[in-house]
Amino acid sequence: MANSAAIGIFDSGIGGLSVARAIRELLPNESLIYVADSGHAPYGEKADDYIYQRMLHITRHLTAAGVKAIVVACNTATTAAIAKLRAQYPLPIIGVEPGVKPAVLASKSGVVGVLATPRTLLTPAFATLAQRYANQAKVILQPCPQLVPLIEALDFSGNKMQALLQSYIQPLLAQGADTLVLGCTHYNFVADLIAGIAGPDVSIIRTEMAVARELQRRLAEAGLINTDLITPDLINKGTAKAAAIFYTSGNTDIFNTQLQCLWGSADLRVTDCKTLL
Ligand code: DGL
Repeated sequence: MANSAAIGIFDSGIGGLSVARAIRELLPNESLIYVADSGHAPYGEKADDYIYQRMLHITRHLTAAGVKAIVVACNTATTAAIAKLRAQYPLPIIGVEPGVKPAVLASKSGVVGVLATPRTLLTPAFATLAQRYANQAKVILQPCPQLVPLIEALDFSGNKMQALLQSYIQPLLAQGADTLVLGCTHYNFVADLIAGIAGPDVSIIRTEMAVARELQRRLAEAGLINTDLITPDLINKGTAKAAAIFYTSGNTDIFNTQLQCLWGSADLRVTDCKTLL
Protein backbone atom coordinates (compact mmCIF):
# COMPACT_ATOMS: atom_id res chain seq x y z
CA MET A 1 0.00 0.00 0.00
CA ALA A 2 1.44 3.38 -1.03
CA ASN A 3 1.78 6.08 1.61
CA SER A 4 0.30 8.54 -0.86
CA ALA A 5 -2.98 6.58 -1.05
CA ALA A 6 -6.04 8.49 0.15
CA ILE A 7 -7.98 8.15 3.38
CA GLY A 8 -11.62 7.16 2.88
CA ILE A 9 -14.18 8.87 5.12
CA PHE A 10 -17.92 8.28 5.13
CA ASP A 11 -21.10 9.25 6.91
CA SER A 12 -24.81 9.13 6.19
CA GLY A 13 -24.48 12.73 5.03
CA ILE A 14 -22.63 15.90 5.96
CA GLY A 15 -21.93 15.16 9.65
CA GLY A 16 -18.68 13.42 8.82
CA LEU A 17 -17.40 16.61 7.21
CA SER A 18 -16.71 17.81 10.76
CA VAL A 19 -14.41 14.80 11.20
CA ALA A 20 -12.89 15.36 7.75
CA ARG A 21 -12.11 18.96 8.76
CA ALA A 22 -10.29 17.78 11.88
CA ILE A 23 -8.32 15.26 9.77
CA ARG A 24 -7.48 18.02 7.28
CA GLU A 25 -6.22 20.21 10.12
CA LEU A 26 -4.07 17.51 11.72
CA LEU A 27 -2.90 15.74 8.54
CA PRO A 28 -3.02 18.39 5.78
CA ASN A 29 -0.88 16.37 3.39
CA GLU A 30 -3.23 13.37 3.31
CA SER A 31 -5.59 13.03 0.34
CA LEU A 32 -9.20 12.43 1.30
CA ILE A 33 -12.10 10.67 -0.38
CA TYR A 34 -15.37 11.54 1.33
CA VAL A 35 -18.66 9.69 0.77
CA ALA A 36 -21.94 11.22 1.93
CA ASP A 37 -24.61 8.51 1.81
CA SER A 38 -27.31 11.18 1.63
CA GLY A 39 -29.55 9.05 -0.57
CA HIS A 40 -29.92 6.63 2.35
CA ALA A 41 -29.92 9.08 5.28
CA PRO A 42 -30.73 9.36 8.08
CA TYR A 43 -29.08 6.24 9.44
CA GLY A 44 -30.43 7.09 12.88
CA GLU A 45 -33.85 5.71 11.99
CA LYS A 46 -32.64 2.57 10.17
CA ALA A 47 -32.06 -1.02 11.32
CA ASP A 48 -28.49 -2.16 12.08
CA ASP A 49 -28.42 -4.59 9.15
CA TYR A 50 -29.53 -1.92 6.67
CA ILE A 51 -26.73 0.34 7.94
CA TYR A 52 -24.24 -2.52 7.70
CA GLN A 53 -25.20 -3.19 4.07
CA ARG A 54 -24.61 0.49 3.28
CA MET A 55 -21.26 0.37 5.09
CA LEU A 56 -20.21 -2.65 3.02
CA HIS A 57 -21.28 -0.99 -0.20
CA ILE A 58 -19.37 2.23 0.55
CA THR A 59 -16.32 0.32 1.78
CA ARG A 60 -16.22 -1.66 -1.48
CA HIS A 61 -16.29 1.65 -3.35
CA LEU A 62 -13.50 3.14 -1.20
CA THR A 63 -11.24 0.08 -1.33
CA ALA A 64 -11.72 -0.09 -5.11
CA ALA A 65 -10.47 3.52 -5.14
CA GLY A 66 -7.35 2.29 -3.30
CA VAL A 67 -7.70 3.96 0.12
CA LYS A 68 -5.15 3.06 2.81
CA ALA A 69 -7.51 3.56 5.77
CA ILE A 70 -11.19 4.20 6.39
CA VAL A 71 -12.80 6.52 8.90
CA VAL A 72 -16.40 5.70 9.73
CA ALA A 73 -17.29 9.30 10.57
CA CYS A 74 -20.67 8.37 11.99
CA ASN A 75 -21.55 7.29 15.54
CA THR A 76 -24.63 5.43 14.31
CA ALA A 77 -22.71 3.31 11.80
CA THR A 78 -19.83 2.75 14.23
CA THR A 79 -22.05 1.51 17.04
CA ALA A 80 -24.24 -0.49 14.63
CA ALA A 81 -21.62 -2.52 12.80
CA ILE A 82 -17.98 -1.41 12.81
CA ALA A 83 -16.88 -4.70 14.40
CA LYS A 84 -18.42 -6.65 11.50
CA LEU A 85 -16.84 -4.32 8.94
CA ARG A 86 -13.40 -4.71 10.55
CA ALA A 87 -13.77 -8.48 10.37
CA GLN A 88 -14.28 -8.21 6.59
CA TYR A 89 -11.50 -5.77 5.69
CA PRO A 90 -7.86 -5.88 6.84
CA LEU A 91 -7.08 -2.15 6.47
CA PRO A 92 -7.20 0.28 9.44
CA ILE A 93 -10.85 1.22 10.11
CA ILE A 94 -11.33 4.00 12.65
CA GLY A 95 -14.75 4.75 14.09
CA VAL A 96 -16.38 7.44 16.20
CA GLU A 97 -18.32 6.75 19.39
CA PRO A 98 -20.04 9.17 21.78
CA GLY A 99 -17.42 10.61 24.15
CA VAL A 100 -18.92 9.17 27.33
CA LYS A 101 -15.51 8.61 28.97
CA PRO A 102 -14.21 12.21 28.60
CA ALA A 103 -17.64 13.48 29.68
CA VAL A 104 -17.66 11.41 32.86
CA LEU A 105 -14.12 12.58 33.64
CA ALA A 106 -15.07 16.24 33.02
CA SER A 107 -18.33 16.26 34.97
CA LYS A 108 -18.37 17.85 38.42
CA SER A 109 -22.06 17.30 39.06
CA GLY A 110 -21.78 13.62 38.18
CA VAL A 111 -24.59 13.98 35.64
CA VAL A 112 -23.83 13.66 31.94
CA GLY A 113 -26.24 14.03 29.01
CA VAL A 114 -25.70 12.17 25.74
CA LEU A 115 -27.29 13.62 22.61
CA ALA A 116 -27.36 11.07 19.78
CA THR A 117 -29.52 9.43 17.15
CA PRO A 118 -32.21 7.02 18.37
CA ARG A 119 -30.34 4.12 16.70
CA THR A 120 -27.00 4.83 18.40
CA LEU A 121 -28.61 4.88 21.85
CA LEU A 122 -30.34 1.53 21.17
CA THR A 123 -27.24 -0.39 20.02
CA PRO A 124 -25.60 -3.03 22.24
CA ALA A 125 -22.23 -1.32 21.51
CA PHE A 126 -23.46 1.93 23.07
CA ALA A 127 -25.05 0.08 26.00
CA THR A 128 -21.68 -1.54 26.74
CA LEU A 129 -19.94 1.84 26.54
CA ALA A 130 -22.44 3.56 28.86
CA GLN A 131 -22.43 0.63 31.27
CA ARG A 132 -18.66 0.93 31.69
CA TYR A 133 -19.11 4.36 33.35
CA ALA A 134 -22.45 3.77 35.07
CA ASN A 135 -20.93 3.64 38.54
CA GLN A 136 -18.97 6.88 38.03
CA ALA A 137 -21.77 9.17 36.83
CA LYS A 138 -25.43 9.30 35.96
CA VAL A 139 -25.58 9.08 32.15
CA ILE A 140 -28.85 10.42 30.71
CA LEU A 141 -29.69 9.51 27.12
CA GLN A 142 -31.40 12.02 24.86
CA PRO A 143 -32.38 10.79 21.38
CA CYS A 144 -32.61 13.69 18.91
CA PRO A 145 -34.60 12.26 15.97
CA GLN A 146 -35.40 15.51 14.18
CA LEU A 147 -32.01 17.16 14.35
CA VAL A 148 -30.13 15.50 11.45
CA PRO A 149 -32.69 16.43 8.75
CA LEU A 150 -32.61 20.06 9.93
CA ILE A 151 -28.80 20.14 9.83
CA GLU A 152 -28.78 18.46 6.41
CA ALA A 153 -31.08 21.29 5.28
CA LEU A 154 -28.50 23.80 6.65
CA ASP A 155 -31.33 25.30 8.71
CA PHE A 156 -29.12 26.68 11.49
CA SER A 157 -30.53 30.10 12.26
CA GLY A 158 -34.29 29.62 12.29
CA ASN A 159 -36.68 29.41 15.24
CA LYS A 160 -37.24 25.75 14.44
CA MET A 161 -33.61 24.89 15.26
CA GLN A 162 -33.66 26.89 18.51
CA ALA A 163 -36.93 25.31 19.64
CA LEU A 164 -35.75 21.82 18.78
CA LEU A 165 -32.42 22.20 20.59
CA GLN A 166 -34.19 23.69 23.62
CA SER A 167 -36.53 20.70 23.74
CA TYR A 168 -33.61 18.26 23.76
CA ILE A 169 -31.25 20.16 26.09
CA GLN A 170 -33.51 21.67 28.77
CA PRO A 171 -34.58 18.30 30.24
CA LEU A 172 -30.91 17.34 30.62
CA LEU A 173 -30.05 20.62 32.36
CA ALA A 174 -33.10 20.25 34.59
CA GLN A 175 -31.73 16.89 35.77
CA GLY A 176 -28.38 18.48 36.70
CA ALA A 177 -26.25 17.65 33.65
CA ASP A 178 -23.13 19.83 33.53
CA THR A 179 -21.58 18.00 30.57
CA LEU A 180 -23.19 17.26 27.20
CA VAL A 181 -21.85 14.71 24.74
CA LEU A 182 -22.37 15.40 21.04
CA GLY A 183 -22.91 11.77 20.08
CA CYS A 184 -23.58 12.35 16.38
CA THR A 185 -21.10 13.95 13.99
CA HIS A 186 -23.83 16.20 12.53
CA TYR A 187 -24.22 17.90 15.91
CA ASN A 188 -20.72 19.40 15.70
CA PHE A 189 -22.19 21.92 13.28
CA VAL A 190 -24.61 23.17 15.95
CA ALA A 191 -22.13 22.94 18.85
CA ASP A 192 -22.14 26.72 19.33
CA LEU A 193 -25.93 26.84 19.41
CA ILE A 194 -25.97 24.00 21.95
CA ALA A 195 -23.35 25.79 24.07
CA GLY A 196 -25.40 29.00 23.85
CA ILE A 197 -28.47 27.25 25.23
CA ALA A 198 -26.58 25.23 27.86
CA GLY A 199 -24.66 28.23 29.17
CA PRO A 200 -21.02 28.76 30.19
CA ASP A 201 -21.03 26.29 33.08
CA VAL A 202 -21.79 23.31 30.85
CA SER A 203 -18.99 21.48 29.00
CA ILE A 204 -19.60 20.25 25.46
CA ILE A 205 -17.76 17.05 24.50
CA ARG A 206 -16.87 16.57 20.83
CA THR A 207 -14.79 13.73 19.45
CA GLU A 208 -13.67 14.69 15.94
CA MET A 209 -10.12 15.74 16.92
CA ALA A 210 -9.67 12.57 18.98
CA VAL A 211 -10.69 10.57 15.90
CA ALA A 212 -8.16 12.47 13.76
CA ARG A 213 -5.43 11.76 16.34
CA GLU A 214 -6.35 8.08 16.44
CA LEU A 215 -6.14 7.98 12.63
CA GLN A 216 -2.71 9.62 12.80
CA ARG A 217 -1.58 7.06 15.38
CA ARG A 218 -2.84 4.11 13.31
CA LEU A 219 -1.23 5.44 10.11
CA ALA A 220 2.09 6.01 11.89
CA GLU A 221 1.94 2.53 13.41
CA ALA A 222 1.40 1.01 9.94
CA GLY A 223 4.09 3.24 8.37
CA LEU A 224 1.44 4.85 6.17
CA ILE A 225 1.82 8.59 6.90
CA ASN A 226 2.16 10.48 3.64
CA THR A 227 5.42 12.43 3.63
CA ASP A 228 5.46 13.18 -0.12
CA LEU A 229 3.73 16.52 0.11
CA ILE A 230 5.38 17.93 3.22
CA THR A 231 7.10 21.19 2.33
CA PRO A 232 8.30 24.08 4.54
CA ASP A 233 5.38 26.11 3.17
CA LEU A 234 2.92 23.44 4.25
CA ILE A 235 4.44 23.21 7.71
CA ASN A 236 4.51 26.99 8.20
CA LYS A 237 1.05 27.77 6.93
CA GLY A 238 -0.69 24.47 7.57
CA THR A 239 -2.01 24.73 4.03
CA ALA A 240 -3.46 21.57 2.57
CA LYS A 241 -1.88 20.51 -0.69
CA ALA A 242 -3.51 17.14 -1.04
CA ALA A 243 -6.71 16.49 -2.95
CA ALA A 244 -10.14 15.94 -1.49
CA ILE A 245 -12.70 14.13 -3.59
CA PHE A 246 -16.35 14.14 -2.59
CA TYR A 247 -19.05 11.64 -3.51
CA THR A 248 -22.71 11.56 -2.66
CA SER A 249 -25.44 8.98 -3.14
CA GLY A 250 -27.92 11.85 -3.03
CA ASN A 251 -28.45 15.03 -5.02
CA THR A 252 -25.13 16.52 -6.17
CA ASP A 253 -26.44 20.10 -6.34
CA ILE A 254 -27.59 19.95 -2.74
CA PHE A 255 -24.28 18.37 -1.71
CA ASN A 256 -22.30 21.09 -3.45
CA THR A 257 -24.28 23.74 -1.56
CA GLN A 258 -23.63 21.89 1.71
CA LEU A 259 -19.91 21.68 0.91
CA GLN A 260 -19.70 25.40 0.13
CA CYS A 261 -21.26 26.09 3.51
CA LEU A 262 -19.48 23.54 5.72
CA TRP A 263 -16.16 22.77 4.05
CA GLY A 264 -15.41 26.39 3.24
CA SER A 265 -14.64 27.78 -0.18
CA ALA A 266 -11.02 28.67 0.71
CA ASP A 267 -10.27 25.01 1.28
CA LEU A 268 -12.82 23.58 -1.12
CA ARG A 269 -11.06 21.18 -3.44
CA VAL A 270 -13.88 19.29 -5.03
CA THR A 271 -12.01 17.54 -7.79
CA ASP A 272 -14.96 15.33 -8.48
CA CYS A 273 -18.47 14.96 -7.19
CA LYS A 274 -20.04 11.86 -8.63
CA THR A 275 -23.25 10.10 -7.84
CA LEU A 276 -22.36 6.93 -5.98
CA LEU A 277 -25.60 5.04 -6.52
N1 DGL B 1 -23.82 11.55 11.53
C1 DGL B 1 -24.35 10.34 12.03
C2 DGL B 1 -23.86 10.00 13.43
O1 DGL B 1 -22.79 10.42 13.81
C3 DGL B 1 -25.80 10.01 11.94
C4 DGL B 1 -26.75 10.78 11.19
C5 DGL B 1 -27.95 10.01 10.74
O2 DGL B 1 -28.89 9.75 11.51
O3 DGL B 1 -27.92 9.65 9.59
O4 DGL B 1 -24.51 9.28 14.14
